[in-house]
Amino acid sequence: MTQNKTENRKKEHITICIEKNIKSTKTTGFEDLTLVHHALPSINMSDIDTTCTFLNKTLKAPIIIEAITGGAKIAEKINKNLAIAANDLGLAMGVGSQRAAIEDQTLESTYTVRKVAPTIPLIGNLGAIQFSNNEYNIKDAKNAINFIDANALAIHLNPLQEATQPEGDLDFKNDKTAIKNICQNLGKPVIVKETGAGISRETAIELEKSGVAIIDIAGLGGTSFSAVESYRDKEKQPIGTVFKNWGIPTAISIVEVTKSTKLPIIASGGIRSGIDAAKAICLGANYVGLALPLLKPATKSANDVKKVLQQIIHELKTTMFLVGAKNLEELKTKDIIITGETKEWLNTRGIDTKTYANRENIKNLRKNIKDVLYQ
Ligand SMILES: Cc1cc2nc3c(=O)[nH]c(=O)nc-3n(C[C@H](O)[C@H](O)[C@H](O)COP(=O)(O)O)c2cc1C
Repeated sequence: MTQNKTENRKKEHITICIEKNIKSTKTTGFEDLTLVHHALPSINMSDIDTTCTFLNKTLKAPIIIEAITGGAKIAEKINKNLAIAANDLGLAMGVGSQRAAIEDQTLESTYTVRKVAPTIPLIGNLGAIQFSNNEYNIKDAKNAINFIDANALAIHLNPLQEATQPEGDLDFKNDKTAIKNICQNLGKPVIVKETGAGISRETAIELEKSGVAIIDIAGLGGTSFSAVESYRDKEKQPIGTVFKNWGIPTAISIVEVTKSTKLPIIASGGIRSGIDAAKAICLGANYVGLALPLLKPATKSANDVKKVLQQIIHELKTTMFLVGAKNLEELKTKDIIITGETKEWLNTRGIDTKTYANRENIKNLRKNIKDVLYQ
């Protein structure tokens, strides 16, 4: 793989994601979830607290700007705008795959955002495939952390993308050993993330065993990298078109991972509103992540990025108000009804969806009332 090829591919990804329909037609599953409305919220909306801790730093809201780009001229502007927005709003940010800069040091400046975002939790990014096929070693992982002054490194899993990419690399034989090795030797927390096809409970358990600190599920229902690659494929029937709905919908992946590991979870893949964010957190995610909704605004200005994020935060707070949750911990105790295909999947995997709908103990609420209608 030559450096120009990587740089060109990065540019193509940005153009395709802005200009084409790259959404899977299968959805996140959030449409199968309903938070129970409480007409007596008993809180003042202005008291709602969305702060939380991420990588030992405080976030004003549980939102991570997902890995998007780096390695091309346009990427420099995008990353700076994203970083300024994250800094101003007290959020975290990941840069896109740093492969381009590992191949060509002159591209490092397209990822370096510390000057404009001195205190945010910043996440580096490299692909598991480059470690599995021995192209990269632990020195490259340390370098990726160092040249952007990151607080953690995200290792992305993208077997679907590689399988649908004309020039894809499919040697994932050593993926688990490679990830374990990075976790043991990096000296910084390792986040493992998917790229739009979700994490199963089996994968999550393996990642926990490997020493991963955080899982970013990046599930199905938002950006489909299979669809993105289909636009780059010159074949008459691109394989990416056939696989654009492949994967685990985001809502399902959140439950699979939270039920099978104790690791903190970032829920991403098709988070498009503060209601989606609230549902993800109510299901058990600790944070949410967004990529595509921020891409076009980031080609314009930091203010455009901020507007999108401020809207999401406002919607999240409104949802918390309407379910009577003062903070994120309370949101996790609220009742959420799971129906449709999401319920069917989870029940088939042996997960009881009724417990999510009956967390608020009705008997407790009624304890000072004489009649026993709801016994
Ligand atoms: C233009 C673009 C480039 C991306 N590049 C990367 C990348 O380099 N590394 C990575 O881990 N994920 C990458 N992603 C995936 C996102 O981080 C995220 O997991 C995925 O897009 C799902 O979120 P969304 O539905 O909000 O877009 C990229 C996404 C987009 C839209």
